[in-house]
Formats: sequence, structure tokens, C-alpha cells
Amino acid sequence: MPVVEAQGLAKSYNGFPAVRDLTLDIEEREIFGLLGPNGSGKTTTILMLLGLTEPSAGSVEICGHDPVRDPISVKRRVGYLPENVGFYDDLTARENLRFVARLNGIRDRDSKRKIDELLSLVGLEEAADRPVRTFSRGMRQRLGIADVLIKDPEFVILDEPTSGIDPEGAIKLLDMIVEMRNSRGMTVMLSSHLLHQVQRVCDRVGIMHRGGIVAQGTIDELGGTDEGEKLELRVRGITPLLLERLRSLDGVSDLQADGERVRLSCTRDVRAQVARAVVEHGAELLELRRPGLALEDIYLRYFQE
Ligand SMILES: Nc1ncnc2c1ncn2[C@@H]1O[C@H](COP(=O)(O)OP(=O)(O)O)[C@@H](O)[C@H]1O
Ligand SMILES: [Mg+2]
Repeated sequence: MPVVEAQGLAKSYNGFPAVRDLTLDIEEREIFGLLGPNGSGKTTTILMLLGLTEPSAGSVEICGHDPVRDPISVKRRVGYLPENVGFYDDLTARENLRFVARLNGIRDRDSKRKIDELLSLVGLEEAADRPVRTFSRGMRQRLGIADVLIKDPEFVILDEPTSGIDPEGAIKLLDMIVEMRNSRGMTVMLSSHLLHQVQRVCDRVGIMHRGGIVAQGTIDELGGTDEGEKLELRVRGITPLLLERLRSLDGVSDLQADGERVRLSCTRDVRAQVARAVVEHGAELLELRRPGLALEDIYLRYFQE
């Protein structure tokens, strides 16, 4: 059973369509990334999935429950980290977590061990007894994740979890999210306007643009170009004869050469044949790679408007 099943979701604010005709499935244990520029409708989508705002049209089921008709069941199973998570700034990290545990009906003696475990999971054991007022944005986000995990959710939704965090801190946080999925078997949905971060951790991505999902799939699926595979190589000692040989390889549809750089368009994976041809011609293969994912191109095309 999919964790998220949304069909034809739409939301208008005073006639302005913030989200339109959005269809989305997220499977168990997936890390799904909702990628899109500011204002593309990511937060509105998340609020509809959570039942925090009512869709103007369409239907949603989260873990088999309708968030509009059955918000309690959804709330019990789903952890949500909003873009700007609020804490009691004068309380310590540990006190804030204890407070959340109480709100979730967990008694202090039962929550104690769990809180220690979560503080260490998010790397805040050293700072556990400091008031949250002294925390950086990154530390707050990590505390936010601990907060979300208190009730052992099956599914967590993180809205721009890395926003306002320096790149190094962002990578740490993202790695933590993957680790959390791996060890707890949770399903994760996160939103971001940063392509590279999403690419780093997400199994599947939906690209949002003006309220709709314009492309959806695995990074590999979205990265595949229409014309097939590309290969880029750098060769020392290149000769016209070698270029001719590469061009005529079975599976190579086009070749462009510029100095020691050669770009091939291919209909299949010909890396082994290419490497052999270079070596057989007495040249040296300095580099052989598949160039950057076309996902970037897709994203930029929508982003640049
Ligand atoms: N409560 C609201 N009232 C009116 N317009 C809103 C409201 N929330 C969002 N919007 C508008 O809907 C669009 C999508 O916003 P949002 O879902 O926050 O996008 P994102 O999270 O991708 O930045 C934006 O144009 C935004 O201005
Ligand atoms: Mg948002």
C-alpha cells in the first residue's frame, strides 16, 4: 500500500491556484523529494497531505487514511517538521523534547531513554542541557527532527529541512535523514528548492512548477536524455584514425571532438568498447565519464522563467 496517494489535488487562495491537479504516490521506505523554486506550491501541497489545509479539489490518503475526514489517525502516524519550527527558547533541548513527549501522551519515565537516544541520533547530546535560545539554525533543525521522531512516526514530512543551514551542516542533516530511514524503515518526504541536496538523498523526485508536478521519477529516470546516453572522455594522443574508430563503434550515434576532449552520444553503454579502442590505438584514456544528469537541465528550464 502506498504511504501517500494523492489524486488531482488542487488548492486556490482567493481564486489564485497555488496547487493544481497534483497526483503523487509515495511508496513505503522511499525518500521522496519535492523540488521546486519558491512559490511553486510545495508547502501548500504538504499542508494538504497533512490535513492542515483543505484541498479545493482532489483526494488524498496517507497510510490509508483520509487526512480531512480522519485527521487524528494521520496525525498519529505522520511526523511533520515545518519550515520554521518553533521551540520554547528558554527551555533546554531536553526539556523541549520532554514537553513534546508529554503532549503525545508519553510519561516522563518512558520518554527519558528515548530522548537520550534521539539527542544522540541528531548529534545534540553535548548541547542537550543548553537553552534552545543559544542554538544555531542547523541545531534547531536537528532538534526539530528529534522532536518529529518522538512519537515513532511511520512517515515524516520535512519542509525545506536544510534552509538557512550552511552547506556542510546541510549535508550532515541530509545524511542523518538517510540514516534514519535506513535504521527505522520510515518513509520520508522532503521539500527543497536546492537540486543538489535533493539529488544527494532522494530515491525519487517530483519537480514542482507553478503549482503542478512537471516531472516525476527516480534521479536516473529524470536524468536520462531523450537522445540516449552521453559519454565524455579525455584522451591523450588522440588521432583522426582513433576518432574514426570511435565514431564507427556499434552503439555510438554521434561524436564531437575538441582537443583531447571527446563527447559521444550513444544508444547503449559502450564504455568498455571505448576504453579498448583508445588503448588499442596506443592513446591514453585520462577520463571517461557520464556527464552531469540532465535533471539539472530540466530543473533549470523551469527555474529560469
Ligand atoms: N495562505 C495563503 N494565502 C494566499 N496565498 C498563499 C497562501 N499560502 C501560499 N500562497 C501562495 O501560493 C503559492 C504557493 O506557495 P507555497 O505553497 O508556500 O510554495 P513553496 O512552499 O513552494 O514556496 C505562492 O504563490 C504563495 O504566495
Ligand atoms: Mg514553502
